Amino acid sequence: MSRKKRKILMNILLIAGIFISTTSCVKKTPVDLSKETLIPKPVSVTATNSSFEITNKTRIYFNKGSDGIESTAKYLAEILRPSTGFPVQVKSTLKKPKSGNIYLSLTDNKNLSEEGYELVITEKMVQLTANQPAGLFHGVQTIRQLLPDEIELKTHAGGPWLIGTGTILDYPEYEYRGAMLDVARHFFGVEDVKQFIDQLALYKINYLHLHLSDDQGWRIEIKSWPNLTLHGGSTEVGGGEGGFYTQEQYIDLVHYAAERFITIVPEIDMPGHTNAALSSYPELNCNGKATKLYTGTRVGFSTLCTKKEVTYTFIDDVIGELASMTTGPYIHIGGDESHVTPMKEYIPFINRVQEIVLKHGKMVIGWDEIAHSALKPNTVVQYWSLAKNAKKGVGQGAKVLMSPAKRAYLDMQYDSTTTLGLHWAAYVEVDSSYSWDPEKLVPGITKEDILGVEAPLWTETITNMNDLEYMVFPRLPGLAEIGWTPAADRSWDEYKVRLGKHGKRMQALGINYYPSPLVPWDEKSAK
Ligand code: ACM
Repeated sequence: MSRKKRKILMNILLIAGIFISTTSCVKKTPVDLSKETLIPKPVSVTATNSSFEITNKTRIYFNKGSDGIESTAKYLAEILRPSTGFPVQVKSTLKKPKSGNIYLSLTDNKNLSEEGYELVITEKMVQLTANQPAGLFHGVQTIRQLLPDEIELKTHAGGPWLIGTGTILDYPEYEYRGAMLDVARHFFGVEDVKQFIDQLALYKINYLHLHLSDDQGWRIEIKSWPNLTLHGGSTEVGGGEGGFYTQEQYIDLVHYAAERFITIVPEIDMPGHTNAALSSYPELNCNGKATKLYTGTRVGFSTLCTKKEVTYTFIDDVIGELASMTTGPYIHIGGDESHVTPMKEYIPFINRVQEIVLKHGKMVIGWDEIAHSALKPNTVVQYWSLAKNAKKGVGQGAKVLMSPAKRAYLDMQYDSTTTLGLHWAAYVEVDSSYSWDPEKLVPGITKEDILGVEAPLWTETITNMNDLEYMVFPRLPGLAEIGWTPAADRSWDEYKVRLGKHGKRMQALGINYYPSPLVPWDEKSAK
C-alpha cells in the first residue's frame, strides 16, 4: 500500500472510531437515588441523577486477600443471576476493576462503624466499601433494594437493571437488631429456619434468638441427656409430632446464619417453661416423678427443682454442649413466668445459672424477671413485660434489649379480625409496631442503657411458614428500621409510603404479608 493510500485508510478508521465512540456514549437513563424505597432507611443518601446498568458483562469483583468478602460477593451474584439471566462472574482483584462492574472492598473509614458501609454509584461502577465484612453484607442488601423489585424473582425477568447514581453512607443506630422464633410451641425445621434467616438478612437484622425449649417441647439434641429430645421433643402444641435439631443441624444453622452475618442466640428457658425436660427426666422434679407431656398453651405451671444438685449438673451439661456449638457471645436463660418457683428460690437459681453460662465462656441474656437476681457483669435484660424490672436491671448496670410485647411481639394480632395470633398484650397494627422509640419507651432508660431491639414470634398458633410470614410481615421491616435508623429520621407518615412501595418486592420474594389497610400499597402490590 502506498503512503498516500495508507494515510487515507488511517483517516477513515479515525473518523469511524470517533463516530463509534460518540454514538456508544448514549445518555444514561436518569434515576433519582434519593427517591428509592429502602428499608431500613439509610443514614444519608446523595443523588446525582444518572444510572449504572447491570448488563451481561457485569462482574462482581472483590479485594484479593481480604477474608470474609468472597462469600458476600458470591451471595450477591446468586441473587442477581436467576432474574437477570446474566452470568455475573465473581472475581478477586488487586486493583480497581474496569467500567461496568460491581466492586466490594474493605477500607478504613472513620465515618463508618463496624457494620456500616459506603456505596458510591457512578455510571461506570458500583463501589461498595466497609470496615468489616458485615458492613459489605449490609451494603449488598441495599444494592438489592436499589434494583427493580423483579430482581428478587427466581425466574428470568426483563430489566433493564438500573441503579441510581450517587452516594449512600449508612450505619446502624443499635448494635443488636434481632428477631426471635419460638420453635418449641410448634417446631420449625432447618429449611424453614434458613428461609427465615434469609428474610431477616434483607433488613440488616443481625441476631436470631431461637427459643429452643418450653413446656411443649425440647428442640436441641443434648448428647449427655438424650431423652430430652427423644421424649421431650416428640410433640408440640396441639399434639403434632414435634421435632428437634440434631447437633449437626444446629451447627449447620449457626454457620448458615453466620454467612449472613446473623448471630444465633440459643435459649433454654428455666426454671419455668420446663415441662418437656421435667417429663423426660424424673430426677429434675422435686417429687422425683416425671410429668406428662403437655400440648396445651397455658404458661407458668412448671419449674425445675431448684433445691436439687442434679438440676445444676443438668444445666451445666446442657449449657456446656450448647456453648460449644454456638459461635456467638450469648446464651439466653429465659427466666420468665416462673410462677411456681418461690422468689427465694428463683433468685439464687438465676444467680447460679449465670455463673454456669459464664464458666462456659458466654454472656447471659434473660427475660426481664431476671433483674430480681444479682446480675453479673455483661448480663443483658430483655424487656418484654415490666418496665420496673428493666429499670432494676439498669440500676445494676445491665444493658436492656427492647422487646416490649405491646409493640414488638410479632404474634400479637393486628386487630380483632386477625385469625392467627393472640392479643393478651395488645392488638398491634403496623403503625403501632413502627411508631415507638426505644430510648423514649421507659422513663429513666436512655440510649446508653439499650443494647438494641428484638422482635419475638411466639408460635402457640403458628404452625407453618405461610402463617409465620403473615404475622412477621410487614411488621418486621419496621422493627428492623427502629433498630437501624436514627429516631429523628423516622416517621410513620413517611414510612408507610415507603412500605406501600415495598409490597411489590415482598411479592417478588414470595412473602405472604398482611396487607394492612393503614398502608397505601402501590396499585400493583395490593393483594
Ligand atoms: C414471654 O413472653 N413470656 C417472655
